Amino acid sequence: MKFTQALISMSLLFSVSTLQAFDKGEDLFNVKCSACHIKTRPSDPSQLVAPPLMGVMRHTKMQYNTKEEAVNFIVNYALNPQRDKAVCMPHTIERFGLMPSQKENVSEDELRYIAAWMYDNYPPSNFNGMGKNNCKSGSCNSNKCSSNKKKNKMAKKKSRKFSPFLINSKDMPHMTSLVKKNWDNKKFNLSSEQKKLLLEIRKRTMKSVMDLSPRIKKLENEIKVITMRDEDKKNIFMMVDQLSKLKAEATKTHIQCITDTMNVLTKEQVKFLLKK
Ligand code: HEC
Repeated sequence: MKFTQALISMSLLFSVSTLQAFDKGEDLFNVKCSACHIKTRPSDPSQLVAPPLMGVMRHTKMQYNTKEEAVNFIVNYALNPQRDKAVCMPHTIERFGLMPSQKENVSEDELRYIAAWMYDNYPPSNFNGMGKNNCKSGSCNSNKCSSNKKKNKMAKKKSRKFSPFLINSKDMPHMTSLVKKNWDNKKFNLSSEQKKLLLEIRKRTMKSVMDLSPRIKKLENEIKVITMRDEDKKNIFMMVDQLSKLKAEATKTHIQCITDTMNVLTKEQVKFLLKK
């Protein structure tokens, strides 16, 4: 009798302590990270100062296959953020700037709790991308949805202002985003070997677009400014030529990415993506 009692209290103790471990990660996240990374879908994306937690974890899990690797990445990134380590899309860093190091703010031990909690709970299972798919056309006519649609449209317009590409990337099949959407879709059926190759392609593409993008933006802005004041157009025309060269390079990178992606996929998989 005593023995069973002891067992019961031991198992109680055990479950309480694991529960506490969970809460500890979340509590720490609330204190150390949630000022910038919100835990819910943003109601007003323009108010964000950093990518929401679900997006961060979606990209982290796409890049790292095991919990151990993902946790190590998060711990490492929070202490020492670097552009070429980032798993998010290049425009995320363009938009928010690089994350400031949290070295002064959080210890490595604390980060391990935080990262494990992030991994276990995010993204929520019903999550399939930020801002999209909230409002499937036709299936919803409520006011809330149509105002969301308007907002989305406005956000899109804004983000269209700057593009590093010669041909707007939105006007070409966006293979990586289609692949991303269907990453774990059983019908699409990516093998782990394919996933590995696709991540390499994505990393390569992101790196070169990330190198080109700030140069293109800078040149574009310079041209805008000089146009209003320079008398001699020779200088500006040279800059325009240079701009078109850089944008062509970015577009070639994009085309290469589409080609490489198609080469990794089977004919059936390509068909599946383009049919959707
Ligand atoms: C001062 C605001 C701020 C705080 C506080 C903050 N972050 Fe971030 N974080 C950002 C921004 C901005 C980005 C997006 C840019 C980037 O990736 O560097 C980001 C991105 C990330 C990423 C994704 C990296 C990638 O590949 O883009 C991870 C992981 C992350 N943060 C973890 C954390 C953790 C864990 C904490 C708490 C210990 C934390 N952050 C606290 C601003 C913050």
